[in-house]
Amino acid sequence: MHGTRSSTTLPGGRWVPAFAGTTLGVSGAASPRRGRGGSLSVAAPRCHWPLLGSLLVAVGVGALVAAATPPWVAPAEEAARQNPRPADAASLASGREAFRENCATCHGESGKGDGDLAELLDVPVGNLASAEAMAGQSDGTLRWKVATGRFPMPSFAGDLDEQRLWDVVNYVRTLSAPPPAARP
Ligand code: HEC
Repeated sequence: MHGTRSSTTLPGGRWVPAFAGTTLGVSGAASPRRGRGGSLSVAAPRCHWPLLGSLLVAVGVGALVAAATPPWVAPAEEAARQNPRPADAASLASGREAFRENCATCHGESGKGDGDLAELLDVPVGNLASAEAMAGQSDGTLRWKVATGRFPMPSFAGDLDEQRLWDVVNYVRTLSAPPPAARP
């Protein structure tokens, strides 16, 4: 799928998908009203056809990407890794800070998938606050997913050191934990 994996760099070095830019170009080229003579005016400020077209193309591309996406499964040796960081107050505070800085834009502060960027992505970000979704995943699996990423989720191996990766895992666990009052 040429063109769907383009990215752009934000301050702080993080990349996010640039569907808007890609699809605008595609829709401009495909627009029957604009294609004649190769004089595309995709950037014309008052014309909203390119925008409409890009939205339609984005939806189409999104459906293809979603249909072609296999389940995300960690390698067995990664899934089996033991978490060396106890989920104490220091680890949770560090994980919370890292989560808010790096993850909440997509996953939302509560992890429910309602971050500002989530609705712009063609791939669902999942629900980190769902006990059901999280229960089947070992700490090793979660660490591997955060470290590795999978488009459009970036890899965090370069940004978060090992200790912070485990801190984030510890914090993510708390998002799906029942509130203290509900615990037996
Ligand atoms: C650019 C948006 C984005 C950012 C930033 C992001 N994620 Fe994700 N995340 C996603 C998407 C999209 C998926 C689903 C990927 C897939 O299934 O292919 C995902 C999936 C996950 C999963 C797997 C969920 C499951 O049910 O298997 C975990 C865990 C996760 N993210 C944690 C994090 C953490 C922790 C951070 C911050 C360190 C983070 N993500 C930052 C977009 C993002």
